[in-house]
Amino acid sequence: GTVVLAYSGGLDTSCILVWLKEQGYDVIAYLANIGQDEDFDAARKKIGLGWGRLDLRAEFVEEFIWPSVQANAIYEDRYLLGTSIARPCIARRQVLIARQEGAQYVAHGATGKGNDQIRFELTCYALYPSVQILAPWRIPEFYNRFKGRKDLMDYAQKHGIPVPATPKAPWSMDANLMHISYESGILENPKNHPPSDIFCMTKNPEDSPSAPDVLEIEFSKGAGLSSALFRRAAGGVAIKVPHGVGRIDIVENRFIGMKCRGIYETPGGTILYHAHLDMEIFTMDREVRRIKQGLGINFSELVYNGFWYSPECEFVRHCIAKSQENVEGKVQVSVLKGHVYILGRESPKSPYNEELVSMDVQGDYNPCDASGFIKINAVRLKEYNRLQNYSFRS
Ligand code: ARG
Ligand code: SIN
Repeated sequence: GTVVLAYSGGLDTSCILVWLKEQGYDVIAYLANIGQDEDFDAARKKIGLGWGRLDLRAEFVEEFIWPSVQANAIYEDRYLLGTSIARPCIARRQVLIARQEGAQYVAHGATGKGNDQIRFELTCYALYPSVQILAPWRIPEFYNRFKGRKDLMDYAQKHGIPVPATPKAPWSMDANLMHISYESGILENPKNHPPSDIFCMTKNPEDSPSAPDVLEIEFSKGAGLSSALFRRAAGGVAIKVPHGVGRIDIVENRFIGMKCRGIYETPGGTILYHAHLDMEIFTMDREVRRIKQGLGINFSELVYNGFWYSPECEFVRHCIAKSQENVEGKVQVSVLKGHVYILGRESPKSPYNEELVSMDVQGDYNPCDASGFIKINAVRLKEYNRLQNYSFRS
């Protein structure tokens, strides 16, 4: 049969590619460009197969990053989901290729312990229900043969797969336009501090200038005005963003049931998160926002767990998109030494009424009405405290 492999250019998927061929499959390797700093040409030369590298950056930004910004998506209060949102984007194209090529199989290089396998495969099953999935890291013939990096290197050598010239970092990385994650290896002991040279996207705050970077972020319907804006805010991988903004070091709960330690840097996403929160509160009705905030938590958990293409996630995205109709305007922010400070904002769609809120102007508001409003709200509190038998004697 024919198998479409989500190929990363790294050692693991290079070996998987050759191994699948050895098992008798016709392999179509596809490399998704979602803004990671991969040496694509080197990857292409590695294996002389008819495989393609596809530029998914625009759809990644438009269909995955912006909905996440609109949702203020955040997992367990800190993780901005940079890897989680990339998986449905990569897998969607993978099954599209499989359908076009009449391939029955898809394959990926995710391990059997992580979240990524779930995200890849739920997307594949959702969009190509009859697909068969090959996950070599869950196939005994594969994982018993490749017990460590040494086995992979030896295999690569034997089969003419160029091995990376630079020794691999002693941790696992996953990079795209939005973020880089670092996990495993020496980071597995959650007590170990990350080495200060681990970060690829951001400069250390202590090496950053003492003057802030002042930016203006413009939103329309809760999304940044162009994907170029995101790329600029993200800095791209070539330029390290100063001020170490968007770095986190967390222990998180994987869907599969274990805790893991991860280090992430999400410079552009972090700036956008703060700017968007500000524009949202500025422009959105209070009660709509309360409901929408809950949906944002639903969205984040669904996406983390791999359910991007589920009826519930589609429903939540639809509601969130509706909530963003008036989230329009500009936020000025200052980025300094790891922090994002909001400086000011303006919007043509905000219910903010300077006259109504002013301490100096009466506006269309009668302060006497507040007495009744407070008294009515106190009815419940009085009853509750009567029952508590509060005594103020002692
Ligand atoms: N723990 C993060 C997540 O589940 C990052 C996963 C990193 N994946 C990788 N293949 N290195 O989204
Ligand atoms: C992996 O297991 O392949 C990476 C980590 C994860 O998916 O959570």
